[in-house]
Amino acid sequence: MVVPVLRAARPGEEDAVAALSAAAFSADPPRRPAPRDPDPDQVLRRVAEDPEDGRLLASATARVCGQWWGGRRVPAIALSGVSVDLTARGRGIGRALLADTFDAARAAGAHLVALVPSTHAFYRGAGCGIAGRRPVYAIATHELSALPRPAVAPTYREATAQDAPAVAALVAARAARTNGALDHDGSTGSAVQYVARREGRVVGWCALGRRPSARGNYAVTVLDLVAADAATELALWRDLVADAPSAREVHALVPAGSLLEHHLPRQTEPVEDATWMLGLLDVAGALTARGYPAGVSARFALETGPRVLTLEVADGRARVTAGAAPGAAPVSLDPADLASVYAGHLDPVTARHAGLLDADPVAAASLRTLFAGPPAVLDRPF
Ligand SMILES: CC(C)(COP(=O)(O)OP(=O)(O)OC[C@H]1O[C@@H](n2cnc3c(N)ncnc32)[C@H](O)[C@@H]1OP(=O)(O)O)[C@@H](O)C(=O)NCCC(=O)NCCS
Repeated sequence: MVVPVLRAARPGEEDAVAALSAAAFSADPPRRPAPRDPDPDQVLRRVAEDPEDGRLLASATARVCGQWWGGRRVPAIALSGVSVDLTARGRGIGRALLADTFDAARAAGAHLVALVPSTHAFYRGAGCGIAGRRPVYAIATHELSALPRPAVAPTYREATAQDAPAVAALVAARAARTNGALDHDGSTGSAVQYVARREGRVVGWCALGRRPSARGNYAVTVLDLVAADAATELALWRDLVADAPSAREVHALVPAGSLLEHHLPRQTEPVEDATWMLGLLDVAGALTARGYPAGVSARFALETGPRVLTLEVADGRARVTAGAAPGAAPVSLDPADLASVYAGHLDPVTARHAGLLDADPVAAASLRTLFAGPPAVLDRPF
């Protein structure tokens, strides 16, 4: 078998990479040239080339960004998919390109990889574990119209380029109080963006799209919505998202425990419920960079994959050293399961019961406290 050459995509190969990706993921072949990257330094694009004829056999594209865990930003990549040409699958090219992309991400300083998989087994083999779900619900607009009115209604207008810093600040404040949010890249495709203002300040922002619907003229899709306070958040849902009477339903991500979930009169089945996955590209770096609950102190000798590390946590911060320190509680688990524990998706006590985590019961309970937090949410698909 000819071994493909793995390398960074060259300038000018964007359309070939987009064609590979569209062939793997899209119902339609691409008709237009791929959009150019607004910030090429923030994009990692790796390819596998057939050394005999120079044909591109596979591609992987990722955005270099930060992901927020426990109130701190951890350097990461958002991987938007590995595509192997249909004629070259099942020969190890996908696995090799994924490893090459992870190496390039580490070289760029990333500790984490976040992705929405179409096949779990492929990524699990590379050390990624399930991190959470993205439940998208179809909500009747009349339910949103019935949300409480704020005491002082904001004013609304379409967002302009001048609003970008204020919007970025709102998004960053949300990222710091939740888990799993990625840095905002400002792109929302064809969505229309609106801001809510009060006393001359931007206090809310949303990006809304439309999709065909058998009910009403169209369904509203919420790509993102963020506000400085709960009253403004509910006002955005009520005043802008509930675009009644033209739309009779809204498709929106409603994370468990979110403000909107609390106010909706009923929960239906989600219309989409994708899982997303996380991988720790640099275990020590990922454990050190995130935040932990205040007031929790613990020391573990963590065996995962080929390495043993000591993880010491105090005052919301971790220190990681190589090897097992004397007196540290031994814990052993697979790297993919460690990623799921890191994300708060896999509960350590349950994992111990399931035989996925080897530790004494006290250590498992202490790990549960360490990685407790809000359910990790990827705000937007990428
Ligand atoms: C998924 C994909 C990238 C795999 O590429 P590939 O070159 O055929 O995969 P490899 O031959 O390197 O296989 C690597 C491992 O993944 C497993 N794997 C590959 N495709 C798989 C699939 N569809 N389902 C489950 N496991 C799969 C293989 O069995 C192999 O496992 P092993 O390491 O235990 O032997 C390729 O099928 C593809 O491009 N699919 C369309 C796009 C897509 O779904 N991308 C990934 C999701 S975002």
